[in-house]
Amino acid sequence: MSDASPEKNTALMEKIVSLCKRRGFIFQSAEIYGGLNGCWDYGPLGAELKRNLKEYWWRKNVQEREDILGLDGSILTHQAVLKASGHVGGFSDPMCDCLLSKARLRADQIEPQSGTAYWFTGASHAESGWSVEREYGVLAMAGDDENKARKTARQYYAQFLPDKQISPKTLELIGERTEVVTETTRFNPENGSLLTEARAFNLMFQTRMGASSDDSDESSIAYLRPETAQSIFVQFKNVLDSSRVKLPFGIAQIGKSFRNEINPRNFTFRSREFEQMEIEFFCRPEDGLRLTDEWLERRLTFYEEIGIPREHLHVLDIPDGERAFYSQKTYDIEYEFPFGIQELEGIAYRTDYDLTVHQKGSGKSLEYFDEETKEKIIPHVVEPSAGCDRTVLALICEAYDEETVTDEKGKEEIRTVMRFSPRIAPIKVGIFPLLKNKPELVAKAREIQKLLSPFMTVFYDETAAIGRRYRRQDEVGTPYCVTVDFDTIGENGEEFKDTVTLRERDSMKQERIPIAKLREFLLDRIH
Ligand code: GAP
Repeated sequence: MSDASPEKNTALMEKIVSLCKRRGFIFQSAEIYGGLNGCWDYGPLGAELKRNLKEYWWRKNVQEREDILGLDGSILTHQAVLKASGHVGGFSDPMCDCLLSKARLRADQIEPQSGTAYWFTGASHAESGWSVEREYGVLAMAGDDENKARKTARQYYAQFLPDKQISPKTLELIGERTEVVTETTRFNPENGSLLTEARAFNLMFQTRMGASSDDSDESSIAYLRPETAQSIFVQFKNVLDSSRVKLPFGIAQIGKSFRNEINPRNFTFRSREFEQMEIEFFCRPEDGLRLTDEWLERRLTFYEEIGIPREHLHVLDIPDGERAFYSQKTYDIEYEFPFGIQELEGIAYRTDYDLTVHQKGSGKSLEYFDEETKEKIIPHVVEPSAGCDRTVLALICEAYDEETVTDEKGKEEIRTVMRFSPRIAPIKVGIFPLLKNKPELVAKAREIQKLLSPFMTVFYDETAAIGRRYRRQDEVGTPYCVTVDFDTIGENGEEFKDTVTLRERDSMKQERIPIAKLREFLLDRIH
């Protein structure tokens, strides 16, 4: 999070969201129908960015390691899996409803407030003889007009009027009393209205499987997975037997997870459908704590490698009593988003909890036979669990920059530039013929496009002045642009024939480079 004021950070976030839509990174799902809350679609550039992140994660964690294997499990999940894991009974958030607006709020995310609570026991309407008896309260903050609280109460009681033509203003409030309250979370910060008591709300999306299923058939219930981790635990034995790996080893998975979040918010940060990148790293019990620390360092390095510097990350060592009961150590890696410092990834030492509950739930052995000690053990597990969409959002927030530049004519302008690391940038190189009406320039530029496109995402552009074309690529974070000019086609002699101008995004420096060296030059920098 920058040191800027909350207003500046909100304005920055608005600019980022707007750029994401304008340039095709991220769109609201079903936008033309009013939007599907908590769901997002990645546009052409967002899809490239996300793929680059996932591919780099997979390369570093699966491809380049002998001791981690990949898995691609099903999203629809057997109810027995999630009963054993504890999700059916316990995967919930405390939720409460606003008695006035019916908005649903996460009870644990309500900011404590102080002020005067106005309580009423009911309301009546003299003319019609109607009345209602119900306890209701409104919080008035210091400086609020006390009639505002009464107005809110009248609106609340008006909901129960059988005749909707009666104006709330004509209601008489009954049994008014006031109470000074401090640090309370019983009232909606938006409108002061009393909230319902908090109750547990299960976050899983339930569905029914099979054509013949009817609503009373409990056995047809299945769930959209709330995390990718469970299929890794459930397939532990199959992976072990088919791959004959030895401890310590990991199973990695990237994929969609679904949580019916009460309050999706902060753009894609808290979504109802999102992707996770998880590793379950199985080990001997005595190695668990050490490996948790090692994974923390490895994951911090990963973020640096994709362009999120360590100074913008925070490591939270979750204290005893705040971790899941089975976890002996948990670190959260947090990022300084414009809307606050928030979690990107959790690294948890989950002991033998998961395999033990699935062994018990399924009745099948999930033990590992240790050749060295000739003992059977339930392996322990260290879990680095990262959010893919959250990391994409962090990459976008980190990359966004505005700078004042002066053009050739001495005019100042704001350059918006996404400073993505070349490794994850959606487009690696823009290819421009200087003029679109000069066939030799166009043909050469197309030739370069053909040369590079099997190896990287390129963007060919022949419209507008060259400066405009550079700016358009700056705004989507393209690290390099190549311009084919008259030197390239040999119009100014042999010296620069078959060379192009290579322009670097951040420094805006330009150099000449032979076309024959372009591929190697770019591959070295984007890998
Ligand atoms: N298997 C462990 C697990 O799922 P988690 O802390 O609930 O742990 C791991 O989730 C990561 O998944 C989080 O650090 C976050 O990056 C991402 N994540 C969780 N809920 C999310 C949501 N509603 N929207 C986007 N990302 C989410």
